[in-house]
Amino acid sequence: MRGKGAAALAGLLGTALVLTACGGGSSSGSGSDGSSGRGPFTFVTGKDNSGTMPYIADEWNKAHPDEKVTIKQQSDSADQQLSDLQQHFQSKDANYDVVTVDVVWTAEFAAKGWLVPLKGDDAIDQSALLPATVTAATYNGTQYAAPYASDGGLLYYRKDLVSKAPTTWDEIIADCKGKTTSGTIKGSKPACYAGQLAKYEGLTVNAAEAINAAGGTIVSDDGKSATVDTPQATTGLDFLVNGFKQGYIPKEALGFKETESLNAFAAGQLMFMRNWPYAAAILSGDSSKVADKFGIAPLPGPDGHGASSLGGHSVAISQYSNTKASALDFLKFMQSDAVQRNDLTVGTLAPVTSALYTDAALVKKFPYLPDLLKSIQTAVPRPVTPFYPAVTTAIQTNAYAALQGSTSTADALKSMAAAINSAAAGG
Ligand code: GLC
Repeated sequence: MRGKGAAALAGLLGTALVLTACGGGSSSGSGSDGSSGRGPFTFVTGKDNSGTMPYIADEWNKAHPDEKVTIKQQSDSADQQLSDLQQHFQSKDANYDVVTVDVVWTAEFAAKGWLVPLKGDDAIDQSALLPATVTAATYNGTQYAAPYASDGGLLYYRKDLVSKAPTTWDEIIADCKGKTTSGTIKGSKPACYAGQLAKYEGLTVNAAEAINAAGGTIVSDDGKSATVDTPQATTGLDFLVNGFKQGYIPKEALGFKETESLNAFAAGQLMFMRNWPYAAAILSGDSSKVADKFGIAPLPGPDGHGASSLGGHSVAISQYSNTKASALDFLKFMQSDAVQRNDLTVGTLAPVTSALYTDAALVKKFPYLPDLLKSIQTAVPRPVTPFYPAVTTAIQTNAYAALQGSTSTADALKSMAAAINSAAAGG
């Protein structure tokens, strides 16, 4: 459509912009980058397993009676959260004002124009934050989302059953001998080890961690070509594959996402578990059978500590929101000391603000904070590409086939590499 039609459309859009700028919101807007419009809005976020949302809603609503937030919780599976957001953005839903963005979705959402860039008058001072969290919210040099909770993998272990945390994979296996059941969860003794090994985003995280810990990589630095068909990557993935073959990972773990692995550990059914920091609060709670029996340590690797995949979430403003000015204030509120502190103390979520990791009172209460900080600072980002959904599918599908034993580790990595290359090329 060119010529007259385009001019007419431009005219219409111009009118619409003027209308939004003048009316719509209950009070004046702010910002020159489209962040106008004030009023009640909706915040769409994953299931609140950590119980931190009531504080957020109460504190915000008390201070903003004309701009109240309604919190809409999605499922607790990363994949389902993503498809819900994709559907609502595709239909230009004006009611998904503020959304939670997993670090691996930034590129796709930004490239599709779904998020308001946080630049110009909409820029937020991010100097108090861990740099990795800001990088993960940035695409092509522009920040599109405000980091809100970081995430780094940790090893949860039964300190009543082992005298010190293992630092290598071999130590995990040795620690389990004689103390654990093999191949399955049976009830009398715990099984040895599990992470998140169902076929979904969590498997990409766990497979990448195993591969990175063994010195392998998945894609080149520019994110465009696969680098995963190597002996190092084979050694890494084999830690998980051999777990099923040799019985140190119970077969039930093929269906484990975060919640299932956490439930098994909380029920005393696992000696070691890889999980995110949020697990600590739940494991210390009333429904846990191991509340005073677990310790937290860095993730092990083949020859000493491994490296986590960088996880975490930001909050971002939808381009289709009519309350962008309120939303921008809400993003700043989510990074405030009060919210960051409450998220840590109530939900053991990993703060994005650096200072909390060295706050003496907090370190006393959560002695693993320095390990968590290190986990985040040394974490390896997953591939950054607008085609991430296809790239992660390539990783999950092939890793899962190897875990199930339907293909060898080497063949799985070969076909993973081929699938990544075609996904990263956009096809
Ligand atoms: C956690 C991480 C997120 C990751 C997801 C996988 O929520 O913060 O980055 O994608 O787990 O399940």
